[in-house]
Amino acid sequence: MTELIVRQLKVGTMDNFVYIIGDEKTKEAAVIDSGWEIDPIMDAAVKDGLKIKYAIATHEHFDHTKTLRELAERSGAKVVVHENSPLNGDVRVGDGETLELGGEKLKVLHTPGHTEDGICISAGMKLFTGDTLFIGTCGRTDLPGGSARKLFESLHGVIMKLPAQTLIYPGHDYGDVWFRALEEESKRNPALMARNVEEFLALFG
Ligand SMILES: [Fe+2]
Repeated sequence: MTELIVRQLKVGTMDNFVYIIGDEKTKEAAVIDSGWEIDPIMDAAVKDGLKIKYAIATHEHFDHTKTLRELAERSGAKVVVHENSPLNGDVRVGDGETLELGGEKLKVLHTPGHTEDGICISAGMKLFTGDTLFIGTCGRTDLPGGSARKLFESLHGVIMKLPAQTLIYPGHDYGDVWFRALEEESKRNPALMARNVEEFLALFG
């Protein structure tokens, strides 16, 4: 296992985070959400000598995906979406599938609740959570395709089962830090502190 290069960029007017994840050895890279502007992403990739192979949508919302097709066309990448996504993807992935970056594997975890096509991307001990989980809170459940019960299951049945030292990298800058270990986050984030679905629904339903 080689090291992963991870770049976290904040773009646009809605505090979106986009990520570039690269395999240090082969320089193959994935972009997770592209947000509002492509140039900062392309510039960062060039600086690190990375070739973007995948442009991954964590979910369908425009603030994450409006530039994804253009990014793919400019970089020669394939657009990756969940199989439930209304977006036009070159690769449609389901829960548990993996994408290869050189010697590294990115694993897809289906985490519906904010939208039906919500996915998290697991890379080593890092988890890129889109709008499923933020630092300090979780994604909205009142938009089309949202379900608080499904989000509870995604947070507690999927994410909370991951190793405690997993670093949570969210899709927006809504917290006091840009990323945090799951163990620490689970002690201060009300969405993770809810002890059962009833408590969760009382806060986020
Ligand atoms: Fe969203």
